[in-house]
Amino acid sequence: MDMGLQGKVAIVTGGAVGLGRAIALALAGEGAKIIVADIAQSKADKTAEQIAKTGAEAKAVRTDVTKSAEVQAMVDQTVKTFGRIDILVNNAGVVGPQGPWSDLPEESFDYVVGVDFKGVYLCNKYVVPQMIRQKSGKIIIISSCAGKTGEQFNGVYSACKGAVWNMTQSLAAELGPHGINVNAVCPAAMDTDLMEKVYRERSEFFGFKPDELRKKIKGSYLVPGDLTVQDAANVAVFLASDKTNMMTGQAVNITGGIEMH
Ligand SMILES: NC(=O)c1ccc[n+]([C@@H]2O[C@H](COP(=O)([O-])OP(=O)(O)OC[C@H]3O[C@@H](n4cnc5c(N)ncnc54)[C@H](O)[C@@H]3O)[C@@H](O)[C@H]2O)c1
Repeated sequence: MDMGLQGKVAIVTGGAVGLGRAIALALAGEGAKIIVADIAQSKADKTAEQIAKTGAEAKAVRTDVTKSAEVQAMVDQTVKTFGRIDILVNNAGVVGPQGPWSDLPEESFDYVVGVDFKGVYLCNKYVVPQMIRQKSGKIIIISSCAGKTGEQFNGVYSACKGAVWNMTQSLAAELGPHGINVNAVCPAAMDTDLMEKVYRERSEFFGFKPDELRKKIKGSYLVPGDLTVQDAANVAVFLASDKTNMMTGQAVNITGGIEMH
């Protein structure tokens, strides 16, 4: 199926590794030009090189999504390089130290809120005017199933993921008349650096070893098989495509059925 993404310009934040890299590669595979916007410069360069080897166009732009000036510069750089912005994937995300709410240091709260909530606000803030000028655009916000139900010992992350899901709905309402779709993706656990940290730190509060917690979560999916970054990347491509022009303000669960609302 032609997804209509040939020549489209996409920014993928946090595109250096993990889910962001999978989304960047998947969009490039459909013919999109990619800006890999990540704080990890050398890893972002590697992803851009990997994309270029497939024959697609990509550029890494070192960006800390919590810094207004850096996000603005990255957006300007995208327009300078590729002439427009068709797709924004708000993927950059972090987890703080896992543990009881009252033990979380205030600076960890600020760190998680800074990347997972303010970072999404800033990227949308600077990309939206360009999309309004173009009278079209697709914004994808990577939330989480944790944003729908809440999570023990990972509460601030979970609250941020709920906040960006709410932001998805507000932006969808505001931007629909401009031809801009805004949707969220809510995956369950996929094996990435972020989840390694979660398994390592959170398992002790349940009395498990990290791998036991991993197996318990993975074993809870209703359908057989593993959930991978490719599963979530496929949905991101679909939401970025012209097949979903009448879909906005939605949060799509990719959870093997463990989250149904
Ligand atoms: N892995 C999972 O199971 C899972 C489940 C649900 C949702 N998510 C979400 O998916 C997204 C990607 O997660 P992942 O698992 O691939 O994580 P990851 O740790 O593998 O990758 C995160 C990327 O974000 C980048 N990043 C971190 N802080 C940044 C900043 N300030 N500015 C720019 N880039 C920054 C990192 O350098 C890295 O490249 C996150 O939003 C995460 O919350 C992940």
